[in-house]
Amino acid sequence: MNRLIIIGAGGHGRVIADIARLNGYNDIRFLDDSDISVSGGYDVIGKVDEYGKYTDSSDFIVAIGNNKVRRSILETVQKNGANIVTLIHPSAVIAENVGIGKGSVVMSGATVNCGTVIGVGVIINTCSSVDHDCVVKDYAHISVGSHLAGTVNVGECTMIGAGATVINNVSVCEDCMIGAGAVVVKNIKEKGTYVGVPAKKVI
Ligand SMILES: CC(C)(COP(=O)(O)OP(=O)(O)OC[C@H]1O[C@@H](n2cnc3c(N)ncnc32)[C@H](O)[C@@H]1OP(=O)(O)O)[C@@H](O)C(=O)NCCC(=O)NCCS
Repeated sequence: MNRLIIIGAGGHGRVIADIARLNGYNDIRFLDDSDISVSGGYDVIGKVDEYGKYTDSSDFIVAIGNNKVRRSILETVQKNGANIVTLIHPSAVIAENVGIGKGSVVMSGATVNCGTVIGVGVIINTCSSVDHDCVVKDYAHISVGSHLAGTVNVGECTMIGAGATVINNVSVCEDCMIGAGAVVVKNIKEKGTYVGVPAKKVI
């Protein structure tokens, strides 16, 4: 099947459309709740709740940046029969023994090293790196230019902000926001927003 429906027609969705094209999809369309009819040159053919019209004929990916909204939509469409795919940009470097769950995307220039397990609906964004033996749980987002050193754990729905770093052997629990440029040097066990070097809780 070379038809793909992308749920979410914003900037993230357009980046995913480009990756899909490079993966051989030649019929790419969006569903989005805004009133736009075209995004990145691709047609927006309906609202998100119209996905059921296309589950027999298309693969699906959810391109929503908000981790919890992405989780909610992906779980709903999958439960209702959509074939959710995983997309990896051809320039990403993925070691052989890496697991990547359905609905996850790996953007251009990203590296995922050996022994790492990436969950469902995860975003490994442009030029980020996830080193050996990491665990990135479902619906996390490793933002552009951020780095996880070896044996790092990132909890469900946690976002590692742009350019942030988590040093080796450190765990960040679920539902955290790590601010852009932060450096996480100790385990984070409490949900919240952490910024700075070393990262401290601010919210
Ligand atoms: C941390 C973050 C979530 C805070 O956002 P917010 O709740 O809207 O907070 P504000 O912008 O109101 O900032 C609150 C304070 O924190 C400071 N602050 C915000 N982000 C910061 C960061 N990344 N590092 C250090 N300080 C930061 C602000 O300067 C401000 O300080 P002040 O009160 O002394 O003026 C946000 O700034 C951030 O870093 N988001 C990451 C976005 C990102 O990486 N996106 C990538 C997409 S691929």
